[in-house]
Amino acid sequence: MNQAALHALLASRANTEGLKKLFDLRLATNATLIKELYFSLYPKDEVAFEKLLDVLKSLFEKRPEKLQTQDLERLKKGNWYQSEEIVGMQLYVDHFNKDLKGLKNKLSYFDELGVNFLHLMPITTRPKGENDGGYAVNSYHEIDKRYGTKKDLLDLTKTLRSKNMYLMLDFVVNHTSNEYPWAKKAMAGDKKYQDFYYTYADRTIPDAFEKTLPEIFPKTSPGNFTYNEKMQKWVMTAFNSYQWDLNYTNPEVFLAMLTNLSKLVNLGVDVVRFDALAFLWKKIGTISQNLPEAHTLVSLFKVCLQTFAPGVILLAEAIVAPREIIKYFGEGMTRGNECELAYNASLMALLWNSIATKKTGLLYKSIINIPDKPDSCGWINYIRCHDDIGLGIDDGFISEMGWNPTGHRRFLLDYYCQGLPWSPAKGLLFMFNPKTGDGRITGSTASLLGLEKALDTKDTALLDEAVEKIVLLHGIVLAYGGLPLIYAGDEIGTLNDYSFLKDNTKKEDSRWVNRPHQNWEIIAGLDDATTPNSKIFHRLKKLISIRKKNKVFADNSNVRLHHSGNDHILLFERTDKKSGVLVIANFNTATEVVDASAIQKMGYIKNSAFEDMIQNKKIKVSSGFLEIAPYQLLWLKKS
Ligand code: GLC
Repeated sequence: MNQAALHALLASRANTEGLKKLFDLRLATNATLIKELYFSLYPKDEVAFEKLLDVLKSLFEKRPEKLQTQDLERLKKGNWYQSEEIVGMQLYVDHFNKDLKGLKNKLSYFDELGVNFLHLMPITTRPKGENDGGYAVNSYHEIDKRYGTKKDLLDLTKTLRSKNMYLMLDFVVNHTSNEYPWAKKAMAGDKKYQDFYYTYADRTIPDAFEKTLPEIFPKTSPGNFTYNEKMQKWVMTAFNSYQWDLNYTNPEVFLAMLTNLSKLVNLGVDVVRFDALAFLWKKIGTISQNLPEAHTLVSLFKVCLQTFAPGVILLAEAIVAPREIIKYFGEGMTRGNECELAYNASLMALLWNSIATKKTGLLYKSIINIPDKPDSCGWINYIRCHDDIGLGIDDGFISEMGWNPTGHRRFLLDYYCQGLPWSPAKGLLFMFNPKTGDGRITGSTASLLGLEKALDTKDTALLDEAVEKIVLLHGIVLAYGGLPLIYAGDEIGTLNDYSFLKDNTKKEDSRWVNRPHQNWEIIAGLDDATTPNSKIFHRLKKLISIRKKNKVFADNSNVRLHHSGNDHILLFERTDKKSGVLVIANFNTATEVVDASAIQKMGYIKNSAFEDMIQNKKIKVSSGFLEIAPYQLLWLKKS
């Protein structure tokens, strides 16, 4: 039995046992695993381990009682995050509606669309100048003034709870800013805090590391170490020079970060986004990503969190190779005991690949080869987020398609980043390295799918096509197994925001082009059914409402890809004991066909007709084929 199931069992007895007793029980059942994980990272550290057990007790005591009660309700309910009723949105609070109070005033907007899960981008204190959108943290729980106060956040989380809405916040677990109190103490010469980071008096170790470490931001922050004049030492900075990597080989760091985590979740957070967790452990001679110790560490965080806040779950932000991502659900003895959720970055990249190539072969090849996830875990399905779109596609599979991996990646970059005059996309290149040809893509969904170019050139056919593509991709992530997450503004076709070019702290980072402000004027005009914005909004709203009404969309590990024999079509099925939905998506600019007899055999055609849940009608199959219009999406109901 995995830990979550065990806890659910314990929680079902909660009426007779007090909250505290239940915590003791949880600690007792988890103690062996905690010990094993802890000692595998920090061998022979008995004293610190005893300290950890005391810390866990005190963290539980500090958890507000209403959250302790909610934890138990969640455990009784089982895997709440797998429900078909959850639909998420990601947003920057200040770009959405000024601050936390402003956000609270707009909760009815989410109700209208059907969104009930919010991922707020970092809201804690950060350096004044460059701060990587708040991912350089000065605190893990103090709210930055620009967003409001701690009270504002507590008010918001209280309201969200009362509306059965969920909140996800980031825990920037890999690094702090160079202004974080520990970094300041380290700079002042405090050896204890210098050991909280990877600091070195000379280049010997940094040079040894650099031999195999890749660069995350090669253009703006080349190399992985920064010389700090005050400390007269090199410090590891895998991301930006002002983001100092935490040294988890030091158990003190783990303990202190666990305490930070508890303070964050006690604000009423339901899902913790474990930021950049692939980087948590470093070893000379490796790329220092996805190392086994990083997994052990994540699992240790998870099992500890499970003792003092068992209703809170973790999302793995591991934008790494497909076969590596799945490992963040846990493997072997920790299967199901790392993160409950992970970004489906593979599906995301493959959808963009399918739009550019108009074909789905590479998507099938890649997805079918990903091992099954544990049943208690799930994907966050998304089209794009606040970051760049990386082309995390296996080179081997690209070759098997008969394409040259380097050439194919160059084609994708050219297609999306204005390298091909005929392409409808208007994206920007991110961190392009002319030496290797590697690069990533930035741009809003609408601009990448042609809406911006269509409006610029007043091309109505292109405009209609862009709307269809925006709905198509959203419809796929809304129907796929897992929790769908929409980027705020994409639901109304928001275009690229070029204002970052005028801001010195942002202009080198083109990810800001895809972090536009929410346009409330457009939203006020959504009743005008003729605008592309309103068409997108109302069609997504409908898809969301269909999803929420049909239990088959709950994540019961019930997604199955089927080959259709047509290279332009994606076909997958969601089934449960009672029902089934067949999702059919056409990625081509022409009408495509699928053999109707195959669909009939699957149970989706009866009396020569199929029922499309989206159009809410039965459609006769007059030829022997199912005809799917350019970029059309069908959700067929099993009859
Ligand atoms: C994650 C965030 C990204 C940030 C990085 C460093 O990848 O999504 O925005 O730059 O972590 O914290």
